[in-house]
Amino acid sequence: MNQQDPAPPVIKSVLICINRRYHADQPSCAQRGSLALADALEDGVRERKIDVEVERIKCLGQCTKGPTVRFAPGGRFSLGTSIDDVPDLLDELESLCGVRDDDDGPPLHLLGS
Ligand code: FES
Repeated sequence: MNQQDPAPPVIKSVLICINRRYHADQPSCAQRGSLALADALEDGVRERKIDVEVERIKCLGQCTKGPTVRFAPGGRFSLGTSIDDVPDLLDELESLCGVRDDDDGPPLHLLGS
C-alpha cells in the first residue's frame, strides 16, 4: 500500500441479508439461500473465534444481486454469495478482524430468527 491509499475500514460486523420478498417478480436473498448462508457464517465465526459480530439484516438494498453480505462499517459487499464462498469469507474476516483469545466473545445477533 502506498501512502496515498486510504486506510482500510476497521470491520466490526458482517451483515447478512435474510429478507424474503414474496412476489415472484421481486427476487430476495432468502429466496436464494441466505438463511443457510447466515447459519454457515455464524457457525464458522463461532468455531474459529473470529472477532467479528454477525448480524442478520432485513435488506441491504441489493435485492436483485443477492444473497448479499457486507462487511461493516464501510466494508465491501459480497453479492451472489453462496455456501461455497463461506471459507474464503471466513479467511478474509479472520485476516481483517483477528481472533478472540477468550471463550466468551461478542454475542451473535440473530435478528429474524
Ligand atoms: S433482499 Fe437482500 S438485499 Fe434486499
